[in-house]
Amino acid sequence: MSTSTSNNGTTNYAVILAAGSGERMGFSTPKQFLKLAGRTVIEHTLAVFQAHPQIHEIFIVVSAKDRLYLEELLLKNPVPKVTKLLNGGATRKDSSWAGICAVPSDRLPNANLLMHDAVRPFVTRRIISETIDALGRHAAVDVAVPAVDTIVSVDGEDFIRDIPDRSALRRGQTPQGFRAAVLKKAHELSHGDPHCEVTDDCKLILNYNLGDIYVVRGEEKNIKITYPEDLFLADKIFQVNSSTLEDGPPLRRVQDKVVAVFGATKGIGEALMFLGREYGGRMHGFAASTGCDVSDAEAVERALAGVLQAEGRIDAVVNTAGVLRSGRLADRDPADIEREIAVNYLGSINVVRAALPHLEATRGGICLFTSSSFTRGRSLYSVYSSTKAAIVNLVQGIAEETAPQGVRINAINPERTATPMRVENFGPEPPESLLTAREVAEATIKTLFADFSGTVVDVRRKSATL
Ligand code: C5P
Repeated sequence: MSTSTSNNGTTNYAVILAAGSGERMGFSTPKQFLKLAGRTVIEHTLAVFQAHPQIHEIFIVVSAKDRLYLEELLLKNPVPKVTKLLNGGATRKDSSWAGICAVPSDRLPNANLLMHDAVRPFVTRRIISETIDALGRHAAVDVAVPAVDTIVSVDGEDFIRDIPDRSALRRGQTPQGFRAAVLKKAHELSHGDPHCEVTDDCKLILNYNLGDIYVVRGEEKNIKITYPEDLFLADKIFQVNSSTLEDGPPLRRVQDKVVAVFGATKGIGEALMFLGREYGGRMHGFAASTGCDVSDAEAVERALAGVLQAEGRIDAVVNTAGVLRSGRLADRDPADIEREIAVNYLGSINVVRAALPHLEATRGGICLFTSSSFTRGRSLYSVYSSTKAAIVNLVQGIAEETAPQGVRINAINPERTATPMRVENFGPEPPESLLTAREVAEATIKTLFADFSGTVVDVRRKSATL
């Protein structure tokens, strides 16, 4: 493969370090191969570098025992910029050296290396861009965030020896960027140095005084998944990572796509039908009021069979149908409770089961709807909120099951939205305190065509974003 270069003739190589064993995690699977939101951690990381226009090639450094697994992952989910899988070493430094040696010698004078931990899937496009820009001015670049904790330096007996001034301290992240020839020289010098023990590449530049190291602003969310707790945090970051939608596909991706919407005559479903058509989507709507109740599995199957017959394929399916009833559980009519569960929970199961065979053929997307109450049950709404918690759990489980077939499934979590259901249950509210159904429909269409899966997408009013 011929390598492309930037306008200035520089080649930017990303080296993804994935040869660690993940001992601190206490799991037998290394942390870079654990699943998060439907994909392995390393696949999320690779997707960011693959999508970045200034990255030309990606090398992955992996241990011999994980190589086959990684090869299978890449066969199932190709990442075209990956050109080399390299054998890692016993230490991170050895693995980094493998990355450096993979740069062809004729490229070395004009190459940048971005060394990145595979276990940092939340690296952003901005961080990568700023690291590459800074390499135009400096030979070495680190990424770091301010230290919020006071850092203490201790001796071998756990007594404090120093408390450095916090205002000058930052916590290092990755990528670390280098002009390749400079990093190679640093490593070569370290090879003849028996006392050299480092945990990152910048320290080598510092040790051998090979130039200034500029620091680009990192991000708190660019965490290194290290401990089991980090997986919970990472799941949450996916949920609030609305930037995934901002950088995500434009609404026009719906053009000529065949989309089936359940719950299509009111509120968010109705807005979806309008918006999808406006952008050229081939929208097919169904609702209980027009004879397709999602609690009836056969009716749902018939509806989708009809779409297939008319269009020849189905690209995306959304279920917005839901009912909300309030009341103390003890006071409620059992038939009413069953109905709420049948529509909100079984209805979504019916839609997913009927949709999957169609979407496997098109590697399509599904969106279900949850509510902010999914994280905590609400008094008087215990049935509604628990069905919405079930939807999130369902989406996560199905995302794992359907990843091999390329089907993506996500849950939309709109905050309070101006819909007939809301008015019926809560009465009139100031419009500026509510999302519009159209805003939620926009997020839904983008999510249908985004490449992530198993995620809860929080939709907030613009003024209320994090
Ligand atoms: O061990 P540490 O937390 O510093 O690991 C950071 C990154 O370096 C991880 O992505 C890990 O897979 C990688 N690494 C490596 N080779 C090693 C040790 C760590 O590629 N021998």
